[in-house]
Amino acid sequence: VPLQPHNSFGIVAKARALVRVRGAADVQQLLADPEWGPIPKFVLGGGSNIVLTGDVRPLVLKVEVPGRRVLDDGPRATILEAGAGENWHDFVDWTLDQGFGGLENLALIPGTVGASPVQNIGAYGVELQDRFESLDAIDLATGKPFTLDAAQCAFGYRDSVFKHVAAQEGDFGLAGRALILRVRFRLPKPWKPVLGYVDLERKLQESGIREPSARQVRDWVCAIRSAKLPDPRVIGNAGSFFKNPTVTPEQCQDIIAREPGIVHYPMPDGSVKLAAGWLIDACGWKGKSVGNAGVYEKQALVLVNRGGATGGEVVTLARAIQTSVYERFGIRLEPEPVVV
Ligand code: EPU
Repeated sequence: VPLQPHNSFGIVAKARALVRVRGAADVQQLLADPEWGPIPKFVLGGGSNIVLTGDVRPLVLKVEVPGRRVLDDGPRATILEAGAGENWHDFVDWTLDQGFGGLENLALIPGTVGASPVQNIGAYGVELQDRFESLDAIDLATGKPFTLDAAQCAFGYRDSVFKHVAAQEGDFGLAGRALILRVRFRLPKPWKPVLGYVDLERKLQESGIREPSARQVRDWVCAIRSAKLPDPRVIGNAGSFFKNPTVTPEQCQDIIAREPGIVHYPMPDGSVKLAAGWLIDACGWKGKSVGNAGVYEKQALVLVNRGGATGGEVVTLARAIQTSVYERFGIRLEPEPVVV
């Protein structure tokens, strides 16, 4: 089965077999099957946060659980639920169509609803965990459904329990062990716009609008993203390729002494977050390539497929970037997508 249409990088790779999952029963049926049950499985959502470096041997489970509904529209919050297979951006637009603000800063993020908790998607001052209620998943070993709240998901910056592999039974980590079926969101009332991010602040000032609607914020976010991030339908990519690293204030002072222009933000916990895109840019990587894998011209944090790139080329480019950033700044960049 060709996987190129199923990964936003547009990397050519094959899976031995692919099964579409529309609900828990599909998984249970599969697990009970003597031929397919015992085979290792790989869960695929929108494929927008993975780098395929070869053919996928495990059985690919393509999550296509549908559905969007309002569970509770109370005085202090609205609780919404969506199937893991729903397209994330379309879901955000649907919530706005229903009159519920809260997810607008996360508009235009590629991928599915089911993938959103895996890497705790975030943009323009809002992270998924700020709007998360709970999720239903199914254990791929036993076929047993279970529910997790936010604490059990162990959300961190672009991180959750679903990104960690448990070495043995009982260890922390659900990577490869669970398939997310449905996600529930809590949108607090009254709605308040989150406009602290510099790019949004600028839009607000330019527009002269005093009290923007959720829809207006959504439109600004879409405009900002379209201006600097490549559309995966046009140029293959997986969004930011590296996480923004954090350093101690002392480390930051050292770097500033040498590199006065470095873009950095103080964090609530006292650490300092550095803009990985700036570090990569400063090393001269914008527009550079390894084979058909390249660094996006308008945003150095995004690696792109210039046409026919292999996962190997992407990984080679990523390593070269990591090496040059380490040599110049002494900082190790951590990849954000999952390398398969
Ligand atoms: N910068 C440069 N050169 C570059 C790229 C960025 O100098 O080539 C500078 C910018 O000028 C800016 C700073 O770096 O001062 C930060 O850039 P930006 O505001 O574009 O945000 P980011 O740190 O690059 C993060 C997220 C994005 C998210 C945006 C907006 C990560 C890894 N990335 O990007 O998330 O959309 O903030 O909130 O945290 C994703 O995870 O896939 C993603 C796109």
